[in-house]
This record gives sequence, structure tokens and C-alpha cells, in this order.
Amino acid sequence: MIRVDHAGEFGATRIYAGQLAVLGKSSPAAHEIARMAAQEDRHLARFDRYIAERGVRPTALQPIWNVAGFALGAATALISEKAAMACTDAVETEIDKHYREQLEALGDHDPELAADITQFRAEELEHLDKAREHGAEEAPAYPLLTGMIRAGCRVAIELSKRI
Ligand SMILES: [Fe+2]
Ligand SMILES: [Fe+2]
Repeated sequence: MIRVDHAGEFGATRIYAGQLAVLGKSSPAAHEIARMAAQEDRHLARFDRYIAERGVRPTALQPIWNVAGFALGAATALISEKAAMACTDAVETEIDKHYREQLEALGDHDPELAADITQFRAEELEHLDKAREHGAEEAPAYPLLTGMIRAGCRVAIELSKRI
């Protein structure tokens, strides 16, 4: 669980880095993205600590998520700000499902981890709401775009559990 969550939070920081590289920092959307990115930094820092404290091997795919995350962020931002928001919409939809499943699997086995996942999940859902407030659903080809990104997330999650 820690390996895949660490990979996901790392990927999130790379997506937002790619979006901010394209959008700069001046628009309202960029401001919102920067705020979400700061939260992803905190999520990643927490999972960095879990990796160290519990001796978990990070995914070997990290160099790929580094590039793929940034590319996804940059590509969606190049389409439009609303497409960048649709990317967050798609990613957070899958992450919410992923964290919900983990919390069910954890039960009361690991209260420390469960508390962090509960908090992060709430923040991811807030990102989803913010993305929709900023017009994610008005992005060009929203169903296709989010469908593709969601499928990519599911593949990335399964691979990061195993490799
Ligand atoms: Fe996160
Ligand atoms: Fe997020």
C-alpha cells in the first residue's frame, strides 16, 4: 500500500509541475493548481517518511512516473486550463476510489496509515471539487479525455503495486 501510494503522490506532484511549467503562475487556475500542488507535496513528504520508517522499497517505475506525470500535466495544460482541470478531475476520481478501497482493506489494522489516508482522501476530493468549479467538465472532449486519463491511472496503480 505504501509503495503504490508513494508512487501516486509522486506522480501527482509531477503532473502539477508539468501544468505549472506551461501555465505560469498568474491566472486564477494556475493559482488554484499551485495550492493543490502544495498539498501534494505534503502527501508525498508523508509517504517519503513511511518509505523510510517502514523500510518499503519504492516502485522501480518512479523514473517513468517522473516523466509521464510531467508530460501528462504539460499536455493537458497545453490544450487549455479547463483540460488541465479535467486531468485533476480524472486523477482524483481514481485516487478517491483507490484510497477508499485501501481504507476498507485496512480496517483497524493500521490506525496511523488509515488516519493519513483518510485525511489525504478528503483533500483529493477537495481537489476534484475545485477542478469542477474551474470548469473541468467544459474541457474539450471531457468524457474521452477523462476516460483516457482514468484508464492510465488504473494501469499506473496496478503496475506500482507490483513493480
Ligand atoms: Fe495527494
Ligand atoms: Fe490531489
